[in-house]
Amino acid sequence: MTWPRVVSGDSGDDSHRHSQCAGPEETKACCAAAYGDDAVALVLGESYHPGGSALTRRLARTMGLAPGQRVADVAAGPGATARLLAAEYGVAVDGVDLGEAGVHRANAATAESGLSGQVRFHLGDAERMPLPDGEFDAVVCECAFCTFPDKAAAAAEFARVLRPGGRIGITDVTVAEAGLPEELNTLAGWVACIADARPLQEYSGILAEAGLWTVRTEPHDDALIRMIDELEARLTVLRMAAGQPLATAGVDVDAVLRHTGLAKRAVAEGLIGYTLLVAAKPAAPPAASR
Ligand SMILES: C[S@@+](CC[C@H](N)C(=O)[O-])C[C@H]1O[C@@H](n2cnc3c(N)ncnc32)[C@H](O)[C@@H]1O
Repeated sequence: MTWPRVVSGDSGDDSHRHSQCAGPEETKACCAAAYGDDAVALVLGESYHPGGSALTRRLARTMGLAPGQRVADVAAGPGATARLLAAEYGVAVDGVDLGEAGVHRANAATAESGLSGQVRFHLGDAERMPLPDGEFDAVVCECAFCTFPDKAAAAAEFARVLRPGGRIGITDVTVAEAGLPEELNTLAGWVACIADARPLQEYSGILAEAGLWTVRTEPHDDALIRMIDELEARLTVLRMAAGQPLATAGVDVDAVLRHTGLAKRAVAEGLIGYTLLVAAKPAAPPAASR
């Protein structure tokens, strides 16, 4: 979970963020810029999604990833998932992310870990990916589908790059059927990256429209709670140890902690959750026999 830059002395009025991040292209750019921020990297650490590497492994097993397969990691962030999949499952990974700083960081970390032969990152938009048609056995997209303004376009891209019989694995923020209640609107506006999270059924419906059929879903709300707890603990320590860098980066720790409290309550009340979803692109029909 992350936030657009929170200006020190934040009064809770988030109207300035809406104006800066209004419109689909600006929302995407704001989200990518937020994740590329050094302060966010400092606070989030290695993993930018709830469940960390344990949930990534669960996703990989559920999708049945096997050595030699080709995987696209959509909205790959700092690339920890791509490197884990390459190192532990023997797959080759093409990561795509809209954040230039993030792509640079991901390629540098991959070179350092000696995995450049198997893993590479491209600058690009999930809604129009710089990847070829039908060459991927699997697509993974962790904690990012909820951020895409045009989810139908992103789903169509997943389907385009997958080979027939390929699988898409998503872990993402979900909201209750009724959406976020009014009193959480400030949370949704502030945490711009989850403001467009949808109910699980809606994600499945969007994927189905693109020809991707949901074969498994699992709730992982506990991972979201743990991530918020870890975020709060890190922020509290960083405020003591590194208050100056956080302040310089424009992060108002008190404002962040107010909102993480709201988010935790929303998870406990079942208004926000975190879900694993695997969907399949049907195998090509057998050639018609005469
Ligand atoms: C919560 S982070 C998740 C990163 C990574 N999947 C992980 O789990 O560690 C969301 C990522 O989505 C990227 N992003 C947001 N909108 C995007 C878009 N339209 N196309 C590609 N990447 C995007 C951001 O730059 C950010 O790196």
